[in-house]
Amino acid sequence: MRLSERPLIAQAEIDECVKRLARDIAARHQDGRGLVLVVVLKGATIFAADLMRCLDVHPLRIEYIRAKSYDGTHSMGEVELIVLPDLSVAGQRVLVVEDILDTGRTTTAILSALENANPASLELCTLLDKPSRRVVPVDAQYVGFSIDDHFVVGYGLDYREAYRSLPEIYVLEPSNG
Ligand code: XMP
Ligand code: MG
Repeated sequence: MRLSERPLIAQAEIDECVKRLARDIAARHQDGRGLVLVVVLKGATIFAADLMRCLDVHPLRIEYIRAKSYDGTHSMGEVELIVLPDLSVAGQRVLVVEDILDTGRTTTAILSALENANPASLELCTLLDKPSRRVVPVDAQYVGFSIDDHFVVGYGLDYREAYRSLPEIYVLEPSNG
């Protein structure tokens, strides 16, 4: 596998998108009740770090949840969630921050785990969406970019833990293709 020669999404486009998402989120949360950002490890960390620094919502609490469903470029179907014991969100407004919506299985598992904790509201923000891959319907209130069915890396997204630190988003292509 190798990286596409040019990025699919350049840094300037990502920056602009993050600011737009932050504005949209803030517009819905201006009443002082605050928000709990639940960042999905590991892929959403870089996106979330940029998003939270533009987000004019207070108080803003940051929490993390770990989800694993991919082996290389293949979705394994089963989702493993690791929730920290102090993730109490009862009565609070929650926003899940995801890197990418693919089949929808991971996000559905995360949303139902959080729904069981009785938040006041539960929203979803995803940087990327691959709608053509959806198996389980998912409602995302905030979507950065809709993309075609490519396996993408960079800006937090990995292939076997590589490429997360790239500042732009690339397509991973077969080496012989
Ligand atoms: P599902 O299928 O459950 O998958 O919606 C969501 C999770 O799968 C990973 N994923 C990707 N990771 N490039 C990546 O680096 C991709 O193109 C890609 N597609 C899915 C990701 O961890 C996401 O949270
Ligand atoms: Mg991954």
